[in-house]
Amino acid sequence: MTQPLTIVVLSSGLENFKEIRTALSADSRAQLLAGGNDAEQLHEEIVRLKPACAIISLGANSDQGIRFIQRLTAESPRTALISAAYDASSDLVLGSLRAGAREFLRLPASADELKTVLDRVSDFCSVQVEAPKKKGRMIAVFSSKGGCGTSFVATNLAACSEARTVLVDLNLQAGDLPLFLGVDPKYSFADMAENRTRLDEALVKSFVTPYSSNLSLLAAPKEADAADEIEPEHVFDVLQRLRESYEYVVLDPQHTFDSITLAALDQSDEIVLVLTLDIPAIRSTQRALEIFDRLGYPRKKIRIVVNRWSKQIDLDLRQVEKFLGEPVVGFIPSDYQTAVTSINLGQPLVRSDAGCKISQEIRRIARTIAIGAVHVAEEETPKRSFWNALFKRDASLILSEPGA
Ligand SMILES: Nc1ncnc2c1ncn2[C@@H]1O[C@H](COP(=O)(O)OP(=O)(O)OP(=O)(O)O)[C@@H](O)[C@H]1O
Ligand SMILES: [Mg+2]
Repeated sequence: MTQPLTIVVLSSGLENFKEIRTALSADSRAQLLAGGNDAEQLHEEIVRLKPACAIISLGANSDQGIRFIQRLTAESPRTALISAAYDASSDLVLGSLRAGAREFLRLPASADELKTVLDRVSDFCSVQVEAPKKKGRMIAVFSSKGGCGTSFVATNLAACSEARTVLVDLNLQAGDLPLFLGVDPKYSFADMAENRTRLDEALVKSFVTPYSSNLSLLAAPKEADAADEIEPEHVFDVLQRLRESYEYVVLDPQHTFDSITLAALDQSDEIVLVLTLDIPAIRSTQRALEIFDRLGYPRKKIRIVVNRWSKQIDLDLRQVEKFLGEPVVGFIPSDYQTAVTSINLGQPLVRSDAGCKISQEIRRIARTIAIGAVHVAEEETPKRSFWNALFKRDASLILSEPGA
């Protein structure tokens, strides 16, 4: 069976469009999706519809057409671009090929020439058939109360990984993870969000800041203005893209249930819920668990970790677990001097002092929740429909107490 080829045509006028359309109608593979001479409108259509090919007619203002090809080459790499013109001067053909066109179609198009060009587009498309997308595991380290040590735990869990891992600072307004890793990022989440429709491997790599050969940071924007522009949908897209490039994506979200944090938690395979053993933090954790229940998160998605644990804390752990209705999977000892020194030096403790008690326990937790194993199990695609529904509704409806 012949593979249909979806096509968008940017013509240089009505007559020119009719002519190309007639030529295409003679080839049974051609499916014309959109056409006309409004370059801006067609640009949007091409990015949205991702046709197999776009025919760009170079009229009197051929420079404009060449710039259009350049732009599409960068933004729609999976669409084969075909330049077309009545004037087949070698300068024009070469110029359009250099700008990124795959083929040149001489106008008026003869049936033979059109067939040859579409054959080549067809070959290009068969090479483009996507390999199934890789999907790394996403772990959010979350606390509904500030100051419990989530950034410290997230950084150190990520640093335990032996596989390709990216740590993502989702405190978009006031992220401080560069300090935890002693790095000075040039680019941030805002750059990734702005370029989200064209994030290939090289671009992803250029926006993250490497810490070591297998750990990188996607920093929060330095300016609050840039953070304001980031929408939950952008967060969703960027995180999905990161999962294709990294085996582990470790998130450090805010301590609130705002829509960006919900976008991140919803997408995560696992949530490490961090608390300290004091009454306000325990209450806040219980409320977070109630919210997770209301959001429909399975309890197995949540792993409770106590940070700053000490034997001196006069609280019966069994009572705490009973109150929360969940077991605690890890107890990171309290050692302020050691923790704060590692932060001040910008070195994750699990790497700078692997033998200390905090590091040992964080490594044990990483093994328990399988962060860092090089093999990644295939999992289901997240239910975007649920996520979409969440943000179409007012998040506060979901988060408000039932019956309130
Ligand atoms: N296990 C620990 N023992 C002692 N101090 C710790 C421990 N873990 C973290 N801390 C200290 O707690 C402080 C807060 O840590 P961190 O910034 O990671 O918390 P956070 O929950 O991310 O806070 P924020 O509300 O700023 O996001 C830091 O000074 C850190 O050194
Ligand atoms: Mg923090």
